[in-house]
Amino acid sequence: MSSDKKPILITTALPYANGSIHLGHMLEHIQVDIFVRFLRMIGRKVYFVCADDQHGSPIMLKAKQLNKTPEEMIAEVEQEHQHDFAGFDISYDNYYRTNSPENQEISNKIYKTLREKGFIKSKTISQLYDPQENMFLPDRFVKGTCPKCKAADQYGDNCEVCGATYAPTELISPYSTISGATPILKESEHYFFDLPQFSDFLKSWISSGTVQDEMANKLQEWFNSGLQMWDISRDAPYFGFKIPDSDNKYFYVWLDAPVGYLASFKNLFDRIGVDFEETFRDPDAELYHFIGKDILYFHTLFWPAMLKGADYATPKKVFVHGYVTVNGAKMSKSKGTFIKASTYLKHFTPECLRYYYASKINGKIDDLDLNLEDFVAKVNADIVNKLVNLASRTAGFITKFFDGKLAATIDDEALYNKFIHAQDTIKEAYLNREFNKVVREVMALADDANRYVDEKAPWVLAKDESKRAELHNICTMSLNLYKILISFVAPILPRLSKASAEFLNVELTWDNLATPLLGTNINKFKALFTRIDQKEVAAMIEDSKKDLAAAAKTLDKKDTKDTKKKDEVAAPSQITIDDFAKVDLRAALVLNCEEVPESKKLLRFELDLGNGEKRQIFSGIKSAYQNPQELIGRYVIVVYNLLPRKMKFGLSEGMILSAGHDNEIFLLSADSGVKAGDKVM
Ligand code: MSP
Ligand code: ZN
Repeated sequence: MSSDKKPILITTALPYANGSIHLGHMLEHIQVDIFVRFLRMIGRKVYFVCADDQHGSPIMLKAKQLNKTPEEMIAEVEQEHQHDFAGFDISYDNYYRTNSPENQEISNKIYKTLREKGFIKSKTISQLYDPQENMFLPDRFVKGTCPKCKAADQYGDNCEVCGATYAPTELISPYSTISGATPILKESEHYFFDLPQFSDFLKSWISSGTVQDEMANKLQEWFNSGLQMWDISRDAPYFGFKIPDSDNKYFYVWLDAPVGYLASFKNLFDRIGVDFEETFRDPDAELYHFIGKDILYFHTLFWPAMLKGADYATPKKVFVHGYVTVNGAKMSKSKGTFIKASTYLKHFTPECLRYYYASKINGKIDDLDLNLEDFVAKVNADIVNKLVNLASRTAGFITKFFDGKLAATIDDEALYNKFIHAQDTIKEAYLNREFNKVVREVMALADDANRYVDEKAPWVLAKDESKRAELHNICTMSLNLYKILISFVAPILPRLSKASAEFLNVELTWDNLATPLLGTNINKFKALFTRIDQKEVAAMIEDSKKDLAAAAKTLDKKDTKDTKKKDEVAAPSQITIDDFAKVDLRAALVLNCEEVPESKKLLRFELDLGNGEKRQIFSGIKSAYQNPQELIGRYVIVVYNLLPRKMKFGLSEGMILSAGHDNEIFLLSADSGVKAGDKVM
């Protein structure tokens, strides 16, 4: 971090405008908000912005499904998103939108500069086209039979069953998921951004400390496999910005989405009188992006290259975080662990989640598990029993016996100084985004403080009229320790710190950390934090399941026409019992199960099929099993007589049966009593 007085320009990734904010998104917004609040607390100038990402095919099609115009839908979603973030006390300086005049202006300007400098090329390509809807189909809107394993209903770019990747044109009997029609191949001219020209620049940009080390290695792999031209245009109909000097071509959403960061800054700067061009033309601008690991490619290749090519400042830092899992698994709509921000807020205060996430954020890209039992336990144990307890068991005496006035001396100087000295460690932890260290440090100090109070037992002294002075000093000491701790966690727990500041009658800043409260008056203590309960978690999960049912119902109503068409096309042909008998299904015992590190979807199984027969099978169910070892010892069902298939990772000898919906897929397993090798009928 630079030490000068330049403002730090900080962003969170722009959420898509076709869905609600959920607790996965909140990891990012809470993380950045804590960082920003800390920077402000130590006196750094920060501009913190975000926006809704409102363009692209999925948004256009979702609006259509809902019988709305895209403009109507994105306006509603923007309201909802802003409301959710406010509910979590995310302290943006501006929350804007990509469908805005500022964004169009800057996108056009960047594009034109890139074109003038020879970084834009055009080429005619052929793509699948839906002749009924009259539109080109993005890969994820084409489905068909996998050309490799023949599994039905696979997406246009890869097969979830066998893990093969292919071009959508290779699918067998493809169909459009929008209309159900069979796509045709159609040619069209596209514009490409010449990324390979930026190869040298990107290499040095990445190796200059802009990304975490773990990420820099990943990026090296991309260079090794060679950078490709990037297709930045889409044909009408498309919801987005028209490309200047083209007819009916639009910017691909990922071109104008990151420009949306700049647009949000510009919108803010125009309002408060800061010069946008001057700020972003300065190569030393302190621009920091926080993103999830899924959008790394866009932020560390395309985006810095675009900025460089258009003579704007390139990001100084791209901080990447992992994914939120709930109770050890991917967030699941059917299990009720796909929890919307608004659903959470019906049951808990924002502080609980802010604290829990902070206690686990370590500045690395590991996934973060929200374990709901641990969540309740930690919030109660730390915030209620350790932190607030310090104030609640001593403040009353100050009010009752001393008219709200604190004593004039610090009782235990050594202990007090230990707390003050912790500020350097805590500051460094905040700056390294290791909020888990902040929490650990503060809780260790809270233990010290509580031990002090336990030993002095003010509730015993209070009974003895002759011990008033001692009581006064001890309670004053305890509240001073509380003041320091609550200042340390103020960026994490802004509400608690605000309420505490009001009760302590002081402003909690980093600068006055070391100034003790002596001889001043405090206000009457009111409950600062309410204990939380596991029952409320259960209620939140139930609510989340209801949310899902309600959403499905709205879409179903609008969707009947399309679904029918899809069924007509995709209906499986009927088979006789003899056909079915050809499939030899067997029970098998899982001897070993592990991730295939190079694959997003695959797990590798070692199975016992009875009579000493062992087999290896790959199965595309990684998403549902965060911890594949848990599957060892389970009985699964295997297609025994499937021809073995050679895959990139080894031979797969059969297929394991699983079932799923949406994007989730789970193993089918056998009941107890079944033995390895049993025939399944
Ligand atoms: N619209 C793009 C970003 C454009 S930035 C110029 C996008 N939107 S998103 O809504 O899908 O995701 C927004 C951010 O939330 C991303 O950083 C993404 O990684 C993060 N997360 C989405 N789901 C998440 C979890 N389950 N866990 C943690 N972060 C998650 O991508
Ligand atoms: Zn396949």
